[in-house]
Amino acid sequence: MRNALRYSYTRIAIAFSTDNRDITIVINDDGLGVSAEDREQIFRTFYRTDKAHDRESGGTGLDLAIVEAAVNQHCGWVKAQDSLLCGLRLVLWLPLH
Ligand SMILES: Nc1ncnc2c1ncn2[C@@H]1O[C@H](COP(=O)(O)OP(=O)(O)OP(=O)(O)O)[C@@H](O)[C@H]1O
Ligand SMILES: [Mg+2]
Repeated sequence: MRNALRYSYTRIAIAFSTDNRDITIVINDDGLGVSAEDREQIFRTFYRTDKAHDRESGGTGLDLAIVEAAVNQHCGWVKAQDSLLCGLRLVLWLPLH
């Protein structure tokens, strides 16, 4: 969510859905997005895209690596996709038990 705030222009959409077994969190934004090549890399520590460097947003490239490690330790997964809002769409899935 902090990335969506940092990298979007004006729109962010966040959705939570759950049933008895799992929870899914989807975060969409209308920013510059991340290319298909970079989407493979952005979960690596200290990896920042050129667009992020251009924006001087001052990040360190650690948050998504921490997110992926935390989600994996809870037997879940996280993936980055293109957003219908034209920016990035991040999907997190976590089992409840
Ligand atoms: N919503 C987004 N829109 C566009 N690019 C993004 C988005 N979220 C992440 N990125 C890209 O992925 C990179 C890695 O994200 P990550 O959150 O790990 O690091 P950061 O935002 O640069 O720094 P910090 O560790 O302070 O959050 C970012 O530098 C940026 O290039
Ligand atoms: Mg970040």
